[in-house]
Amino acid sequence: MKAIIELVKGKNISYTPVWFMRQAGRYLSSYRRIRKRYTFLEMCETPELAAEITLQPVRKLNVDAAIIFSDILLPLRAMGLKVYFTEKGPFVFGDEIHSIDMEKMLFTGKIMRILKKELTDKTLIGFCGAPFTLMSYIIGKGRPDENRTKYLMYNRKEDFKNRLNTITDSMIEYLKLQMESGADMLQIFDTQAGILSPCDWKEFALPFVKKLITPFKGKTPTSYYVNGMSGILNIVEETGADILSIDWRIDIKNCKNSNKTVQGNLDPSALLAEKTIIEEKATYIMKMMEGKRHIFNSGGGILPQTDEDKVKFLVDVVHEWKKEL
Ligand code: CP3
Repeated sequence: MKAIIELVKGKNISYTPVWFMRQAGRYLSSYRRIRKRYTFLEMCETPELAAEITLQPVRKLNVDAAIIFSDILLPLRAMGLKVYFTEKGPFVFGDEIHSIDMEKMLFTGKIMRILKKELTDKTLIGFCGAPFTLMSYIIGKGRPDENRTKYLMYNRKEDFKNRLNTITDSMIEYLKLQMESGADMLQIFDTQAGILSPCDWKEFALPFVKKLITPFKGKTPTSYYVNGMSGILNIVEETGADILSIDWRIDIKNCKNSNKTVQGNLDPSALLAEKTIIEEKATYIMKMMEGKRHIFNSGGGILPQTDEDKVKFLVDVVHEWKKEL
C-alpha cells in the first residue's frame, strides 16, 4: 500500500507517513562513497546509478517515499543552458532559453521505470523546479541573486514573463514524462518564491504554477513547496496543488484547517540536536496535525552534517507515535 497516496485521497492511515526532501545526499555515508567515484552529473544521468542512489535512503531509513535522484537544474541543460556542479555549488551559463528538448531528458524516464519495478509499496516522487525559482537560478548563474532577479522582473516584465512561460511549458513536458514513466506524486520546488511579496507572488509565480499543475489534476497528486510560505499561506491554495509543503518558519497549527494535505515541517537544524529534542519537536508537529492529512517531512531538506542515525531515529519516532498513545 502506498500510504502517502492513500492519505492524499482521504483514506484513514493508522500512522503518519514520512519522507525527506534531499533524503539522498551527503549526510549518508553510502552517498559519500559513491560520490568519491563519480561526478554529480554522472550520478544523475546514469540510470542504474541514479536508481541505486534513490533507493539507498529508502532501505536505510524505512521512509514511505522515494524521490528520484536528480536536480531541479538538470532540465536547463536541455533548454540551451550549460549547467555545472562544483564544490562551490551549481553554475548556470547562458541566458537564451528554448523549450525543452525532451530527447535529452529521456534518461529520467529510464530511472523512473527502474524505480517503479523496485517499489511496490512506497510512493515514487517525481519533481521539477517551479518557473520563478528556475528563473532566479538562471539570472543568478547558479546562485539566486535576489536584487538582479527583481530588477529584471520589474523593468523587463514582458521578457521575464515570456521566459517564465517557456519554462512552464517545458516543465509540463518534463513532469509528464515522469508521470508516464511511473511517478505516483509530483513535487514542485519553488524554493525561491519566499523572496516575493504576496502581490508579486500572485503575478510572477502563481499563474505559472497553476498552469504547470493543471494537466496533472485528477491524474497524479501534486505538491507545492516554498521556502518561506507564511506570507502566502492564505492564497497558496489557488495553485491547485493537492499537498502544501511548508517550511519550518510556520507554526504548523496554522495549517490545521487547510482542506489540502499538509507536508512538513521540522526545522532541518533540529536534526543536529540531541534525540530528546528531535522527539519533542517531531511530536509537537504530529500533535498539531492529529487527525489531519499530514505527511511528515523536514521544512527544507537534510543538512549535510546531519548524523544519519538521528534521521533513522526520527523516522521511527514518527512511525511509532500513535502506537504509544
Ligand atoms: O531530494 C532528493 O534526495 C532528490 C535529489 C535532489 C537534489 N536536489 C540532489 C542534489 C532534489 C529534489 C534537489 C532539488 C534542488 N536542487 C533544489 C530545491 C530544493 C531545495 O533544497 O531547496 C534546489 C534549489 C537545487 C539546486 C542545487 N543543487 C543546489 C543549490 C545545490 C548545491 C547545494 C548543495 O546542497 O550541495 C545542488 C547540488 C545537489 N543537488 C546535491 C544533491 C545531492 C549535492 C551534490 C554533491 O554531492 O556535491
